[in-house]
Amino acid sequence: MASMKTDMTADIEKNLEKTRDGRDLSVLDLYSIDPLTHEDLSLIFDLAPLFRAAKTEKLTLCRGKTQINGFFESSTRTMASFDLSGKHLGMDTTNVGGGSSMSKGEGYLDTVMTLDAYNPAVIVMRTRQSGVQEMVARHVNAAIINAGDGWHEHPTQGLLDALTLSEHFGDIDMTGRIITVVGDVMHSRVFGSLVRVLTKLNATIRIVCPQTMKPIGLEKYGCTVFYDLAEGVTGAHAIYALRVQEERGAKGHIPTLREYSKLFGIKPSHLAIAAKDAIVMHPGPVRREVDMAPELAARHPQSRILRQVENGMAVRKAILWLLSTRCDGRQKESVRL
Ligand code: CP
Repeated sequence: MASMKTDMTADIEKNLEKTRDGRDLSVLDLYSIDPLTHEDLSLIFDLAPLFRAAKTEKLTLCRGKTQINGFFESSTRTMASFDLSGKHLGMDTTNVGGGSSMSKGEGYLDTVMTLDAYNPAVIVMRTRQSGVQEMVARHVNAAIINAGDGWHEHPTQGLLDALTLSEHFGDIDMTGRIITVVGDVMHSRVFGSLVRVLTKLNATIRIVCPQTMKPIGLEKYGCTVFYDLAEGVTGAHAIYALRVQEERGAKGHIPTLREYSKLFGIKPSHLAIAAKDAIVMHPGPVRREVDMAPELAARHPQSRILRQVENGMAVRKAILWLLSTRCDGRQKESVRL
């Protein structure tokens, strides 16, 4: 049994190396979707299905490397997914949060430089504030991966969402596909990354939100904004619901959650007017009865919410492998100096 597993691991890794074909990402860190090229997206989307098929197989691709997960804001799926992904790749992983030096007055830069002194290949970071990951990336040798920064971006979420959509459409190019994003776009870093990646893939993006939640600067992404949910989902190929982000002050932008849910909660009647076989997505955590009707969450045949979670592991494994094996300290330093 043990030797069979070794053979299986070897076959999976051979296939991954063959598919990678010596390719690297064009970036040393992942703090935004912005700098990613089409080649980067293709590379991630080529590798992710192989990682998904490998499931929990213990690989050796990153053996001997260290991954530090710094979640300075709470998380369930992203933290579990990064931690398990690193372990499945053979990395030593450890988790730190906001409970120690940050609460004693140390800033992000000193905290991350301290963690970098342990020589990790990768530091994964979630922060309440925007822009921290980009700032610290300039000062450390480890590859910095943004697991969500304030209201700004959540790049691995955007990538797993794009993978889920491209799987459903059967094509990475989304020309002619309508994706309707519903809800609290104003406070959503998930939307921040989703809109960037979908624009790169030529999707048609519709937004449905209360007038008081319309973010500034949507025009540059060519999004069409609707204030009526039925209008916005008519003919859509995917409906992507967002959570009302109370922790970022969203309740100050709506009358009550009950009224919000009546006007902007996704219901089965909305799927009936969307395109045939349209899918429903949500980044989680889902607020049933607020963001969507309970019957649409998770197990509905047109829901892809749990597939998004699965794809999160696959995408994160691809990114961890690519960045940890591209970015040995010297290489990053020589680029930066
Ligand atoms: N989608 C997402 O970021 O979920 P968590 O907050 O649980 O990580």
